Parts: sequence; C-alpha cells; structure tokens
Amino acid sequence: MKKVWWKHGVIYQIYPRSFKDSNHDGIGDINGITECLDYLQDLGIDGIWLSPLYRSPMYDFGYDVSDYCDIDPVFGTMRDFKHLVKEAEKRNIAIIMDMVFNHTSHLHPWFLESRSSKDNPKRDWYIWHPGKKRKVPNNWMAAFGGRAWEWDPLTQEYYLHLFTKQQPDLNWRNPNVKKAMFDVLRFWMDNGVKGFRFDVINLLVKDRQFRNNPYKLRFTNPRRHDQQLHIYDRNQPEAHEILKEMRILFDSYGTIMSVGEIYLDEGIRDSHLPASFLGNNDELHMNFNFSTMFASFNCYELRKIMIDWYEAIGGKGWPCYVFSNHDQSRAITRIAKNDLQKAKLLAVLLLTQKGTPFIYYGEEIGMVDGKFPYRYIQDPVGKKYWPFHTGRDKARTPMQWDATSYAGFSTAKPWLPVNPDYTRTNVALQSKNAESMLQFYRQLIALRKSRKELYAGEIEFLPGSDDVMLYKRVWNNDTCLVALNFSSSKRKINFDSTCRVLLSSYQKNIIDVQTITLDPFEAVICSK
Ligand code: NOJ
Repeated sequence: MKKVWWKHGVIYQIYPRSFKDSNHDGIGDINGITECLDYLQDLGIDGIWLSPLYRSPMYDFGYDVSDYCDIDPVFGTMRDFKHLVKEAEKRNIAIIMDMVFNHTSHLHPWFLESRSSKDNPKRDWYIWHPGKKRKVPNNWMAAFGGRAWEWDPLTQEYYLHLFTKQQPDLNWRNPNVKKAMFDVLRFWMDNGVKGFRFDVINLLVKDRQFRNNPYKLRFTNPRRHDQQLHIYDRNQPEAHEILKEMRILFDSYGTIMSVGEIYLDEGIRDSHLPASFLGNNDELHMNFNFSTMFASFNCYELRKIMIDWYEAIGGKGWPCYVFSNHDQSRAITRIAKNDLQKAKLLAVLLLTQKGTPFIYYGEEIGMVDGKFPYRYIQDPVGKKYWPFHTGRDKARTPMQWDATSYAGFSTAKPWLPVNPDYTRTNVALQSKNAESMLQFYRQLIALRKSRKELYAGEIEFLPGSDDVMLYKRVWNNDTCLVALNFSSSKRKINFDSTCRVLLSSYQKNIIDVQTITLDPFEAVICSK
C-alpha cells in the first residue's frame, strides 16, 4: 500500500449496524461486511471507515465506548475483525477505525474507578467539579440535551458530558489519558488498521477556568446548546499540541491516515476551523468540512464553499469532501430533494474535486432518508427532541441489497425499518441496469482512478454562469473539464477547442464536441 493511498483514494463509510447481517439477529456485523468486500472492490473504493465496533453499552450506538481494544459481541469478535482486515488487504482496501476520544462510556472501567472516590488514581482522568454553591459549575449545555454537568451523589461532585450523561468527557490535560489513548492507536495500527477518523476532535480540550459560554445575539434554534457561542467548551489551543504528537506517532508507522470530525453548529459554514486542525501539515492529515452538509442545491453556494475550503487549507494539508454521514439526513434527500439527476450531479462534484471523497453506504444506489413514526426511533437525539428533531435514524436504515424480504440485509427483523422503496432501489437490480445510480458511481470512480489529473491534479474554477459550475483539473499536459448544470433547463457551453465527453450523468455515448448542450441537472466530465 502506497504511503499516500488516502490522498488518491475514495473512502466509503459503513455504519456497521446497518450494512449486512451475517448471523441473522437483525443487526449488521463484521462478517457481514467481509461478505460484501467483493461488491466494494467492484465499486472501486480504497478504504472503509467503520463507525465504532468497540465494546459499548450502546447508549449512543457505539459512540460510548467501554473497551477501546475489543469488539462488541453484537458485531462479532476480534478474530472476525482480523479476518476482515486480511480480506480487505487482499483487495487493496484499507480499514479505518472510528476513534471516540473526547469521551468514554459511563461504564468504561476508567470511569467506574474515577467516580468511585475523590482520591482514586483515575479521578483526574475525567472532568470533575464541585460546582458553585451546590449549583452547576457553568452554563455549558450538552449537545444531546440538558446541562453538560451531571451531579454524582457518591462523591458529591459534578462530571462533564458534552453529549449524553452516559458519555463522560475525558480530561486530556492529564498526560496519562493521552498515554492510554496513544496505546489504543498503537494497538489498532499493530492489528493492520491503516487510518483513523476522530470523533468531535475539536472538543478534546476545554477551558481551564470553565468560563461561561456567551449567548448568540440572534438564534432560531430552540435547543439551548445551539443558542450559545461555543468559545470555552471547544477549540482550545492545547488540542493542537496533542494532535501534533499524534501525527508524529502516525508518521512513525508510515502509511497511516487521519481525518478529523470538526464539530460545527448545525447550519454553520466555516472552512477556517476545520483547516486550523491541519496545523501546518503537522496535525491531522484531513478534516471534514461540514459546510457542504449544510448547503443547498445551488451553484453559487457550492462553488463558494469549495473555493473557500481550498483557500483556507492553502498548502497546509489535503482537502476532503463529504455530503452524507450517519449524523445527517442523506444528501440525496436533504440537498437533491430525492431527485436522481440532481444526486448524480452531486456525485460528480464530490468525485472530481481536488481531495479525498467520502461516500456513505447506500449513497451509491441512491438510498433516501427513512421515514418512520416515533415508536421506531432508537437514536437518543430523536428520542429527546421529537418532533422538532426526528433524530439520525433516517440516515441509518438497512442497506438495500436486493428485493427479497428485509432488502437482503437480514433474514430477521432489522433493528430499524427498511426503506419501503427497496424493491426498486437495491444493489441487485441496479447491477443489471446500465443507467442506474450504481453503474454511474462505478463508472465515475473508475474514471477518477484512471486519470491522474482527476485524483491528483490541481483545480481551477472557470467563469461559468449563475447556474453552471465549470472547473478544470490539470496534471502536466492532461486536462479534464467538469461542467455541472444546476438549472432545470438546458444550458449551452462553448469550449475553446474540441473536447471528448468522457462521462455524462445522463449516461450518453462518448462524443467529441466543441459546443455542448447540457440537459437539466446534467454533469459532464470532458478531456481536452
Ligand atoms: C459525533 C458522531 O458522529 C455522533 O454519531 C456521536 O453521537 C457524537 N459524535 C458523540 O460521540
């Protein structure tokens, strides 16, 4: 595996509970993923980011870890995991683990020790505070509802949790925490893992004085957490020092990739914050910029986000792109309003930018958001905020493999309902249909892989128009031109010389053109 495989590759996120159930208990598992490696190889991906598989009481479906060095029995065993790594390696696919370092589960032995007494050696591994006159230490709110402080009657102090109270925050100011977590990274790298995604990495360190967050002057969100400016409970300078040390560790292993989740408030567009956690090319290799997540289907807006992102990064690191993940409504529903042509245009945008694209399972077949009533809701966010926020289950429905019962995901009733469109939208059917979304993704990824200008070249935005985005990707003498028509009517483009259309989202035949008329929402990639 080349050192920079992750720069040129395509990464595919799997939410293991929902991908493929091999033991028929209604929950996806590791052996299920291994069974599907040929499918993923065929799709052309280079790495799989697995949402957490570690032992967990599952209050937040694995983002509450009770043992970082073991697999939860619901997903299988360490042996299954090693087998997956080996089989993936045979297909040149890297395995990327999700590292939840900001907090553990309240049932992690470290926390059980920490809460047992004030003089326990692990007391200072978490963030404890006596409070002020028997009141909470400050105004910090938990992202998943209520105050961020929980009173613990046994030792008569509060502990901090920026998510649920079952997810106590670790104290990264304590060097022993860092040491233990770096050992966790070594454990997985020694087990063949080639990369890490870091959960809410900008939350790692908090203000030493626990100052109150100020409130925003204007807000529309009824959640108190979202009404605050998160000045003191995240983005502290000390986090950068930790990431620098981590980078030295990764570089000592050679081929390791790291990507950070930089937590932004819902709806906020900010490229500078995720760029800042790249350091000067000496912190994380990449960071997600969720500005794309909060965009609408608008040429001007998306173009601006991309340009801002490149400017914010400069030469400091490598960009990456994402439209969908396990926390947000799927892009096909949220941005493309379930329109397949619009979704194909977004796929071209994702896969032809300069940087590493991340695809979320099911995106390649056009899986849309699930819709179900409250009684099916599993996600703690949905349970807490229904109906104002319906939670994240809609983006976690079972993968649609075929038209058999439960969409071929399982023979048992799945943990979340299968989307009713599975008889039309599934892998088996789309594999046979040359014009399907799946075939389009396969062609798009294959094209990207075959041309250095697409996976490694520079990007240059061209003057387009209000609703047509035009850009070039260039490597030495090779140039690809990408044209995206965001409009619902036809648009004509004149090139300065003859171009060959390599791929069209209308899956038209390859032709040489000097003038091209794009159909509504059509995306094309041409070579010059
Ligand atoms: C971000 C993760 O993506 C999300 O799923 C999780 O609930 C929170 N972090 C807390 O770990």
